[in-house]
Parts: sequence; structure tokens; C-alpha cells
Amino acid sequence: ARSERESIAALNRFAADYFEDCLHQTEEGKNIGLSYFYEREFTDATIKEFNLGYNPEKDGITQEALKNQFNQKYLLAAGLSKEGRSGLYDFLRGRVIFPIHNLSGQVLGFGARTLKADKKIPKYLNSPENELYNKSKVLYGLYQAKNTITKEDNCFLVEGYTDVISLHQAGIKNVVASSGTSLTKDQVKLIRRYTKNVTILFDGDSAGIKASFRGIDLFLQEDLAVKACLFPDGEDPDSFAKKHAREEVLDFIQDNAKDFVSFKASILTEGQELNDPIKKVAVLREMAETISQISDPLARNVYGKNCAGLLDIDEAVLLKEVNKYLRGKA
Ligand code: UTP
Ligand code: MN
Ligand code: MN
Ligand code: MN
Ligand code: MN
Repeated sequence: ARSERESIAALNRFAADYFEDCLHQTEEGKNIGLSYFYEREFTDATIKEFNLGYNPEKDGITQEALKNQFNQKYLLAAGLSKEGRSGLYDFLRGRVIFPIHNLSGQVLGFGARTLKADKKIPKYLNSPENELYNKSKVLYGLYQAKNTITKEDNCFLVEGYTDVISLHQAGIKNVVASSGTSLTKDQVKLIRRYTKNVTILFDGDSAGIKASFRGIDLFLQEDLAVKACLFPDGEDPDSFAKKHAREEVLDFIQDNAKDFVSFKASILTEGQELNDPIKKVAVLREMAETISQISDPLARNVYGKNCAGLLDIDEAVLLKEVNKYLRGKA
């Protein structure tokens, strides 16, 4: 008998094909889903490469899967259906679909975007975890990005599905997103199989800043060289890539990506001279804590020195503070 894993995988494969067929071959899919993707300037090649799809408003994947003898148990486990008072109903109805692949191209789950502007409904719904899908071990876009990550020896980390897709379409293909969760240690280890260099490209809002700080600490713990770059306020890599050509996007990143010490110090000090001693002490502590995440003593020393220079503090004093956090970890 098939394992639960295999059964969910088979259902996901069926569902991904169905969503793609709906997008390309039904009137509703073409009028609503495909025109949405065209409005976002996704090309046919991009839509095909990422296997984007559409789930209809009525009689979507739930009906189709039941008709094809799939067990409702797996529809529920895969998060494609929910149990209502009168039986199963379609969870992702009327949404455009972003399949999430593993490294061999198997579909583990789906991100599904609403086409409605209504702020009360969630913009994206994501498949739940199950026997097949462990979110903390998957990166969106890695399947499409892995060869280029190796070739470029660098990986860009973005926030969203559409950021991955738009950069890829612009010709920047070494891009992944940690979708549906905040970045995890396992995801960092996954990137490290391909490169030790990562550049975080997050939205320039407060959520993006917070997430980038968290990402920096995780990358440092796994000995990756991490840079970070925020996009101008209100922009994300997707919107930016729509307004600028490949070379301009790469130039922007080149000009604005900073090593983690400069990045974090400039955000914490907001470019101001630190006249307030209380604030300065707090900033130094936070910098020391981040530097203490680096496991290589030599690298720790180099970044400590840079940081001391940037924030105008005695290097030995800062390194002593770093060492306090190191002892705390042991
Ligand atoms: P954003 O809100 O920045 O969305 O969330 P986006 O990727 O720019 O999407 P568009 O351009 O409006 O279509 C970033 C990522 O966070 C997750 C998704 O993975 C999304 O791509 N997210 C966001 C959710 O899982 N659920 C949500 O309701 C919102
Ligand atoms: Mn490609
Ligand atoms: Mn955002
Ligand atoms: Mn965004
Ligand atoms: Mn966006």
C-alpha cells in the first residue's frame, strides 16, 4: 500500500496539473487567473517554468479529485479541502496558485493568492504541514534556482513568491524565498549546500527589517557570509524589477548591499551620530550580540574591529562584550 507521503504526493501532482490546465484551458482561468498574471507582467515562459495555476470559484480541485478516486483523507491532509457541514469544500477557491517544489521538482504544497482587494481575507493561503511537507526544510524557488546559485556562488533571499518569480524573469535566477514561515536553521543549511554567500533582499518596511536581523543571526551561526539590502520604502524586489532592467537591479543591489555590520549599525543608528550615551550602549550591545553569533574567531575579530571603527568605540572593549555573549552561549 502507498504511504501517506506517497498518497499526498500523488494528489499534489494531480492538483498541480489540474490548476495549470484550469489556468491555460478554461475560460474562467484565462479571464481571471491568466489575465492577473499578465497584469503583473509575468510572461508565458515564466508562468510555465513556475507551473503557476488557477483554482476555479466553483467545483474546483475537491470535486475533480473526488471524481478521480482520490481519498478525501488526503484532500484534508494536503489542505486542498476543508470539512464543512455538508461535506468537503474547496479551500483555495478562486485563487491563483504557486506550487512549491522540492529539489527534485516534486510538488510539496501550494501558495494561493486571492485576487480580491478585500483586506479582511488573507492575501496568501499556504498548504499546511503534513507527512510530505515540512515548511522549515523547504525554500520556494530553490528547484529553479539551484544551478544558478552554484554558478554565481551567491544566493539572494527574498520575502515572497512573486519576488522570486520577477527576479528570475528579469534574468536574476539565484533567488529563493522562505515562504509561509520566518527563516529557519534548516533552510540556511539548505542554502549552504550550494554557496556560502547570501544576500538578503527584503521589503523596506519594519517587518522586513526585523526579519532581516533574524536572518543575519541565523546565517552567521552557520558560517555564511551575509550581506543585506533593503528596497526603497514601498518597494519589494518584484515591484523594483518591474521598473528596472536586470543591470539596474544588480547595480542597485551592488550599491546598497552592505555587510551585516554596516547594515545593522546603519539601521540601528538611523544614520545619526550617537550623542545619547544610553542609546549608544544599547546599540553596541545589540551589535556585540550579533557578532557573537559568528563561530569563526578570526571573522569575529575582523567584524568586531569594523564595528568598533564604525561606532567609535575601543575595539578591545567591544570584543570583550562580544565574549560575554559567547560565554552566555556555552
Ligand atoms: P507580502 O505581503 O510582501 O506579499 O508577503 P508579496 O509577496 O509582495 O505578494 P504580492 O506582490 O502582493 O502578490 C511576503 C510573503 O509572505 C507570505 C507569502 O509567502 C508572501 O509571498 N504571506 C504573506 C503569507 O504567507 N500570507 C499572507 O497573507 C501574506
Ligand atoms: Mn529559468
Ligand atoms: Mn512586506
Ligand atoms: Mn512584498
Ligand atoms: Mn509584492
